[in-house]
This record gives sequence, C-alpha cells and structure tokens, in this order.
Amino acid sequence: MALWDSLKNLFTHLIHPWLFMAISAQHLPQTVTGIISSGEFYKFLSPSAFSEALFGNFWATVGPRVKAAAEERVIPLLEGRVSGGRIHADVVGTPVHGTVIEIGAGSGMWADVFARIGAGSGSTAKDGARRRNQAVPSITKIYGVEPNPLSTAALRKRVEDVGLGDVYEIVPVGIESASDPDAWAGQIQPGSVDCIVGVLCLCGIPDPEENIKHLYKLLKPGGHWYVYEHVKATRGGPLISLYQRLVNIPWSFFLGSCRLCRSTRDSLLAAGPWQKTDLVQPPDEPPYKVLPHILGTLTK
Ligand SMILES: C[S@@+](CC[C@H](N)C(=O)[O-])C[C@H]1O[C@@H](n2cnc3c(N)ncnc32)[C@H](O)[C@@H]1O
Repeated sequence: MALWDSLKNLFTHLIHPWLFMAISAQHLPQTVTGIISSGEFYKFLSPSAFSEALFGNFWATVGPRVKAAAEERVIPLLEGRVSGGRIHADVVGTPVHGTVIEIGAGSGMWADVFARIGAGSGSTAKDGARRRNQAVPSITKIYGVEPNPLSTAALRKRVEDVGLGDVYEIVPVGIESASDPDAWAGQIQPGSVDCIVGVLCLCGIPDPEENIKHLYKLLKPGGHWYVYEHVKATRGGPLISLYQRLVNIPWSFFLGSCRLCRSTRDSLLAAGPWQKTDLVQPPDEPPYKVLPHILGTLTK
C-alpha cells in the first residue's frame, strides 16, 4: 500500500506541470481573439509577446488557485512565522514592515495580506494591537512592480478595494527598469527599502543575477527579503533534473517568461553579503517534486 501511495504521489508530481500547460492551452482561443480585437497583430509574429499575452489570460484563471494553495506558506512568511522552511504558530522573525517592494505584484493577489498585516485602512484593530504588542512597525509604503498592463489595471482596483490606495504605488515597468528615471514617474533610492517581497516571480524576470543584485542594493542594511519561489530541482537525482529540463521546453511557451530550472537561491545568496540567511526547500516537499520551492527570509 505504501509503495502504491508513493507511486501515485510520484505520478501526480510528474504530471503537475503538464496540467498547468493544458490549462494555458485552453486560453489560446481567447488570446488569439484578444489580439485580433486589440489590433496588436505584431504579437502573432513575436513568440515572446504572444506567450506573455497567453500567460496574462492563463494567470487570470489560475492565479487565485495558486494563491489559495500558497497561502499556507506565504501568509506565515509575511507575518514572520517561518524558519527552516517550517511554519510556526508564533512570530519567530520580522513581519513585513516599513517601505516594501513587491516584485511581480501581478493582479495584487497578496494585497489583502499586506492590508491585514498592517497597512492602510484594511488593517484591523486586532492587527494593530498585535503589532503594538510586538513593537513591529507598520507598512508605510509599498511599491508594486508589475510590467503587464492587464495586471496593473487589476492591481490598481485591488489595492483600492483592500484599502491600500494611499500606501500602494504601482511601478508599471519590469524590475530591470524600476530605477530608470525615464521609465516611470518615480524613483526608488538605493538603501531606502526595508523589505522586498517576491512570490513566484524571480522565475520570470530577465537577467536574474543582475536584477537580483540591483534589488539587493535597494535594501537598507538590516532589511529583509521574503522569498517564495519555484526553482531548479536539486534533490531528486539526475532523472528528475533531466525531466525538469525537458518539461521546461514547452513550459517556456505556455507560461510566458517563467522558467523551471533557475538556481534562484544561488542568485540570491550571491547578490551580496547577508547577515542572516534562512532560505530552504520546505521539508514537507518530496525530492521528486518537479516544481520544488524555496521558502524563507534573507537579512542584509
Ligand atoms: C507567476 S506571476 C506571480 C504574481 C504574484 N506575485 C502572485 O503571487 O500572484 C509572475 C508575475 O511577474 C511579473 N513579471 C514578469 N516579468 C517581470 C519583470 N521583468 N519584473 C517584474 N515583474 C515581472 C508577471 O507579469 C507576473 O505578474
């Protein structure tokens, strides 16, 4: 019975990425008609532009489900209740606070969590009392970096809906342009940010090493980077690594700029000196997972 359960589990993990791609494929007709009706015909000639449009439609369907599955890890992470990849009942670290950059904010799926943890009129009296008891400062400013115009429109509505309108500023460019004064109206100064939050987004940014180093420079000394990302498989042996690389080929078309085999943990650790690193694969993930994660916090 145990062997049968293990085989079933292995099979589920092996087909998991194909299910995502099948859902993405179901959005092909909608993507084609969307491009035709917007007149952006160049997207038919550019595989990257087409797959970004496809991803936008796919994520509108799948994003809420991915959020629901990730909540059990991401909420404790942002509340400072994760260490060694495990979730704790009590605060064991530092909750998100001060000036925050949310990388790849998407449609604002985590905005309600920021509001609850302590920003804007969305935070409750209970949240405020919890913060005061723990002497944790509240969130004073959030820069939501998001280049996809469809997502920024949804993000704008979402931050208003959760009461973050006066705290949340949308940076409507890719992270590679977030410090370019010509790319958007504001600027984020080096060493001015208390916390960086990245949820399932470093898999899709261009030049990850360079851009992660750039983000590192924006953090204050003592600042925190909260990480929940899917990464290159390292614990499942050569067959799982090979399988992940093969799956990555169609994945790159169906999932926009997302890549399966990034060594994001290495890139983050190499970004600069860290006072404290607590970033591991959650111990409850099996080694043969084709979409393994890293979870935790880095302190500059
Ligand atoms: C998988 S989605 C995750 C969205 C959100 N973090 C969430 O958990 O719902 C990845 C996001 O990264 C965004 N993205 C893509 N390229 C980016 C870039 N160069 N800089 C910042 N974000 C980017 C995508 O538009 C997308 O919204």
